Amino acid sequence: MVTPIHQPGREDMLSTNAAATLRDEAATLQETHLRDLLADQRRSRGLVYEMDDLRVDLSRQKVTARTLRTLLDLAAETGLADRIAALFAGENINKSEDRAVVHMTQRGADRRQSAEFASLSSFAETIRGDGVTDVVNIGIGGSDLGPAMVSAALAGHASGPRMHYVSNVDPSHLHDVLAGCAPAYTLVIVTSKTFTTAETMRNAALARGWLGAHAGSMAAVTAASEVARDWGIAADRIFDFDQGVGGRYSLWSAVGLPVMIDVGPAAFTDLLAGAAAMDDHFRTAPHESNLPVLMGLLRVWNRNFMGLATHGIMPYDQRLHLLPAWAQQLEMESNGKSVSVDGVPLEHATTPVIWGTAGTGCQHSFFQALHQGSEVVPLDILVPMRPTGLHLAGNWADSHRVLVANAVAQAEALAIGSPNDAEPHRHFAGDRPSTIISWDASTPFAVGRLLALYEHVTVVSGFVWGVNSFDQWGVELGKVMAKQAEAVLAGAVGADGISATAADLLARMPRSGDA
Ligand code: F6P
Repeated sequence: MVTPIHQPGREDMLSTNAAATLRDEAATLQETHLRDLLADQRRSRGLVYEMDDLRVDLSRQKVTARTLRTLLDLAAETGLADRIAALFAGENINKSEDRAVVHMTQRGADRRQSAEFASLSSFAETIRGDGVTDVVNIGIGGSDLGPAMVSAALAGHASGPRMHYVSNVDPSHLHDVLAGCAPAYTLVIVTSKTFTTAETMRNAALARGWLGAHAGSMAAVTAASEVARDWGIAADRIFDFDQGVGGRYSLWSAVGLPVMIDVGPAAFTDLLAGAAAMDDHFRTAPHESNLPVLMGLLRVWNRNFMGLATHGIMPYDQRLHLLPAWAQQLEMESNGKSVSVDGVPLEHATTPVIWGTAGTGCQHSFFQALHQGSEVVPLDILVPMRPTGLHLAGNWADSHRVLVANAVAQAEALAIGSPNDAEPHRHFAGDRPSTIISWDASTPFAVGRLLALYEHVTVVSGFVWGVNSFDQWGVELGKVMAKQAEAVLAGAVGADGISATAADLLARMPRSGDA
């Protein structure tokens, strides 16, 4: 049984006893500089948490041990433990879609030993040894961001055909990719949970036309096999997954097929094993030392008690450069809600705006604003201690040391600052929070563990906020309006239902087929 968070008269997380204490705590900590908090070595070392080589350093967050204890009280008052238990028990916690949430089963030992996984692996191995030069994955949102990010993250393990990801309905995206491919040697995979997403189906039809006589080679990954079959994909080239696997949580499922082709089934299996290790930690570790629980609670702390509206994710690992985009969909599509899981309007803010890009490039663009601008942005600074798959020596190895030094330096500079009353333009106020997340090297196992950590952080914060982190009704209105605008452009309906300026803009379009 899921314990309802929203008891009558207690519709909001902010009305808990813990929230009242946290408000006081926040007022005190607003007056306490991070420099002073960091100077307390006992406090700081006590805020470093480890799971094997994964190290999460919370010492540069504006918290004390007491803050964390009160956040854990908040978790208790909002029924976090019951909600996590319901998630793992496979209860229908995705209420608006009346479904269980099963993405974790996709990386468990049972699935890794299943016939479904064996058949996916065997298809991947066939493609890897089949003279295929290019694989083009057509998908969008969770059917693109996850696998594209992991392919980039594991570039050091790439051992298959060239891999391309096409998501945008902008024809230049598919056009530019196909310009470098030959139909006879290209596998096109259409990845779509629903097999109805407008952009994906349009690109799939374009790709089918481009393949011509080779169109029979297309493959599909979907939770709607029959729709894919009706569309024309051969039954033995359709790989399905469960409806309970949400799009943004789906890279572990058959949606990972392009990654499996890219890095091979063994590395993909290691990725799943890393995620499963994090699942075990999340399920079994006491909340006091549970990484996703602590990091999820800090999302809530920074958003609702420190009033920080955005959150930056900065990987100091070039191959993780797509992680912020993936995490953006993960957190913002999951927790960008204004009503509770029971449909009650919420009085508190939910997801921060998630954004970021890879370091050190970020330091030479927007970090100016992070150091001296008017908005405080809490950061996750991610950095592996060693490069992966590169056997570096001499100056090359030193470059990785410089990378790590920069990651640490940014966190220190943001927290400690450097006062300069004489030259205000050189004044660094500091007091800007960050978390350093580090690990040994970005192996498939470590990447899987890191991604599962972010999934669970999202789920924890969503549970405490009381939202349904597994639906995404907010994307629907735009889809309906796009169809309407398309109909106006096609002359099938008049422009009555849209605003005058929208109609004027559409009227400027060249006629269909002339673009
Ligand atoms: O429109 C949003 C969304 O449904 C995402 O949640 C999903 O990841 C994406 O579109 C793609 O959906 P599908 O895999 O069904 O094509």
